[in-house]
Order: sequence, then C-alpha cells, then structure tokens
Amino acid sequence: MKPNPLRDPRDRRIPRLAGPCVLVLFGVTGDLATKKLLPAIYDLANRGLLPAGFSLVGFARRDWADADFAHITHDAVKAYARTPFREDVWNQLSEGIRFVSGEFADDAAFDDLAQTVADLDTVRGTGGNYAFYLSVPPNAFPVVVRQLKRSGLSSPPPPSPATRGMQPWRRVVIEKPFGHDLASARELNAMLDAVFPASAVFRIDHYLGKETVQNLLAMRFANELFEPIWNRSFVDHVQITMAEDIGIGGRAGYYDGIGAARDVIQNHLLQLLALTAMEEPLSFAAESLRAEKEKALAAVQIPADLAVGTARGQYAAGWQGGLPVRGYLEEDGIAPDSSTETYAALRLTIDNRRWAGVPFYLRTGKRLPTRMTEIAVIFQRAPHLPFDATDTRELGQNALVIRVQPDEGITLRFGSKVPGSAMEVRDVNMDFAYGESFTESSPEAYERLLLDVLVGDPPLFPRQEEVELSWKILDPIEEYWATHDKPEQYPAGTQGPESADELIARDGRVWRRL
Ligand code: BG6
Repeated sequence: MKPNPLRDPRDRRIPRLAGPCVLVLFGVTGDLATKKLLPAIYDLANRGLLPAGFSLVGFARRDWADADFAHITHDAVKAYARTPFREDVWNQLSEGIRFVSGEFADDAAFDDLAQTVADLDTVRGTGGNYAFYLSVPPNAFPVVVRQLKRSGLSSPPPPSPATRGMQPWRRVVIEKPFGHDLASARELNAMLDAVFPASAVFRIDHYLGKETVQNLLAMRFANELFEPIWNRSFVDHVQITMAEDIGIGGRAGYYDGIGAARDVIQNHLLQLLALTAMEEPLSFAAESLRAEKEKALAAVQIPADLAVGTARGQYAAGWQGGLPVRGYLEEDGIAPDSSTETYAALRLTIDNRRWAGVPFYLRTGKRLPTRMTEIAVIFQRAPHLPFDATDTRELGQNALVIRVQPDEGITLRFGSKVPGSAMEVRDVNMDFAYGESFTESSPEAYERLLLDVLVGDPPLFPRQEEVELSWKILDPIEEYWATHDKPEQYPAGTQGPESADELIARDGRVWRRL
C-alpha cells in the first residue's frame, strides 16, 4: 500500500493498540450508525489508525448476508465519511466485515455471534479482543448485556497461544441516555456492573470527543493568560449555549417524554460546565480528570426558586430557513397534549471559592434560529472608566467565547478606541479560527472516541459518578417541571421562550443573540 497521507505521526498511542480487534455494532440500521459510526470507522482506517486485522461485525434483525452489510457500510461511508474515499482502504476494511442476523432475545443468534468472532480470531488474528457498541434504545441494554454474559462473550479467556500469550480484552460501549433519572441510572449501572468491570464500560458523551471541547483544557491549562482571571474576582457570569435549528425529525419515539434537559443538559452541557469550572487536574489521566470534573459537578447548586431560575419551552409552528415548519405538537408520533420541552434554560451556581456568586446560565433548544454551541465567559466591567460617559456608550463587557461549533474557534471581545479625534471606545473582536490556523481538519468526535475505546483510553468517557452527579442536579428540576405548567410555546426560528429571557433579565443580564 502507498504511504498514508492521513496518518498522523503525532499520535503516539498507535503502538499501544492492543493488536487486532473486533468491533461488534448493535443497532447498525440506526441513524447514528449510518451517519457517524460507520463513517468514523472508515475515517480511522483511512488515517491508518486501525490495526491490520481490525474486523467489524454488525448485529441486527435484518436478514442480511455479510455482503449486504458491507454494502450498507460502503454507502454510509461514501455519503458521510470525512476523509476522501480510497478504494484500497475500503477493500482492506471490507475484508473484515461480517453480519449476524437475529433478535436480541434469541440465544441462537448470540451463539452465532460468538462463533463469528471466534472465526475472526482464527482468520484475522483478532486475538479475542472485542468491543461491543450498544447503539440501541436504552430498553434493549439489559437483554443485550445479559446475552453477552450468557454466550460467554463478556468474559475474556486467559492468555493462550491463540492470543499470542496476551490477555484478551472485552469492552462495552453505551450511548446516552444513561437512565432517565438518578434511580434508573443506578439500575443501569448495577446491571452493567454485574457483567463488566467498571474499567470495561465506556459511556459515550460525544461532546467530549469534539476537538474544541478538548481544546478547552489546552486553552485553560497550557497558557498563563487565562487562568489568573478565571474566577469570581473577574468573571461576571458564564453562558453555555447549545442551539439547534433542526426539530426532532424522526426521533419522536426517543425524544417525547425525555425532552431537552435530559437529552443534552444532563450530559453535554453539564460536561461543558464541568470542564469550564473545574480545577487543574494533576494530569490528563482518567482518574485525575474525572476527579476534578466530579468536584465541580458536586459543587453545583440549583436555583432556590425553580419557578424563576429555570425556563422551559416547546417549539410552535414557525419559519426555518425561509420555509414553514411544524410545531412540536404537530410532529409525527407526538401526542397533541405532550408537555415535553424542546427548550430548557437553567441558572446554576457553583459553591466553591473560585466561583461563589457567579451564575452559570445553561440553555439549549431545538428550532432556534441557528445551530451553534458555545461557552461564553463574560467578564466584569472595569471598576472605573476615566472616559466621558458618552464615549463608552458602545462598550460592552469583555468576553471570551469558545466556539464549540460550527465555526470552531475562540473570540476575545474587548473595547478599543474608534479612530478619530474623540476618545470613543467600542467593542471589537479578536478571533482564532481553526480553519485559518491549522491546515488539518478536525477529526469527528466519534473517530476520536472509537479509537479511544479500541486503545482502552478512558479519560474522555464519563464514569458512573459523573452520571449520578448530573442526575442529582437535574432530578429536582424535572420533578418540579412535572408538577407545574406546560412548557411555554415559542415560534420555530425565534430565540426561544420569553420566560428564558426573563430568567436572565432578572439578574440584569441578557442572552447572547443566536
Ligand atoms: C445528541 C442529542 O446527543 O446531540 C440530539 O440526542 C442532538 O438531540 C445532538 O441533536 C447534537 O449533536 P451535535 O454534535 O450536532 O451538536
């Protein structure tokens, strides 16, 4: 094969790959597999990051042969892969593609799966190393995990000549939601715990795989500039926004009854909060990083009065991109009286020396004007302005905005003199854009996370404690909402419900415009 132009020579973890392995994917026909997972596997192969012999086994109800699954994978790769399609890479990858047809409750299908991976060990030298990716609805987790145990797939055999004397590994990957409240998250964990050791469980929060999110750590802890002012003495407040322009699409079955807060605040937004607020970890090893995030999450306080410190909305019909769109209650599969929120905003505080008194405003919503995720750290006003009041009319607060997506980068906003004879000061922006500073494009979050699963590198995967701490924050809010009015309607394509504007306005602040 020709030298691989996409191989990243700086990825020092490649030699640590435990050797060839099998990724078993449950839920191959879902959207996530088609749009993210299968393309990410190809992109990793294309970048030379998968070991030779890597094999992919799909498991689903369809009556497919290996070739049919390979065909589906090929189409998904062609449609959604980030890196260019190369015939030689595809051919090598497709040699390791297998398919097992069956229901989750069907013992014979799992015996068949066990046989299939054992055959791959023989034919492709995968050494008994298997990762099981459960891209399936949460109610299917228990049966799949039980089957993995029953069929012996969850426990690795001892080293043998067939494994070249190496200890084989077994890992399980689960996608959020990790339960729908604290109690169910604990149940899920107990179920997993009975079958896999904690170190073999990889919980995916794909936000942690995003380059810009990891860069938050680089920005804070590789520089001297920011950390001295990253505290209550200088920061006025923090706004964490995850806005989407899309509606719920075909996901009614998953989304209704779950809502915006459980869907993304419990995981993505609280993770962003934890990374923004935490202390410097001793290192980026899993233990240290998770410990600091947990300390930050444990210090989070919800508003004393949930009526004014939280807001909920549900999109009504409106306009998106110049086209009329339906309201949530008119979406297919949604009950006309559903009280599921598609927008949520919270005012949180963090009870520790660094952040006491600094509000962290979190908001997320669907059918907002644009797709945009950012963390905006807004600084206090200068204690004194030796200017004529009229000269600083256009001066706002300094801000550091980490643009997570789509226009990845960082903006620093500060006041600057307007050219001319007057001493007029106005806000200007200084910008770092990934597209301008780096020639290489950022890997997709799932590329990074899948590779980390295969390498067995856990720092970017939240552990159970973090999941529980996040539910402890959200549970009382969900309970409050469940016993109060329905979410307020907001027209699609607008900034969200008025109650969210009121929430922040009570503190004399405004949301950044979407
Ligand atoms: C998922 C949520 O976790 O994140 C979806 O379940 C949401 O509702 C998606 O649309 C957004 O991901 P991203 O990477 O496009 O911001």
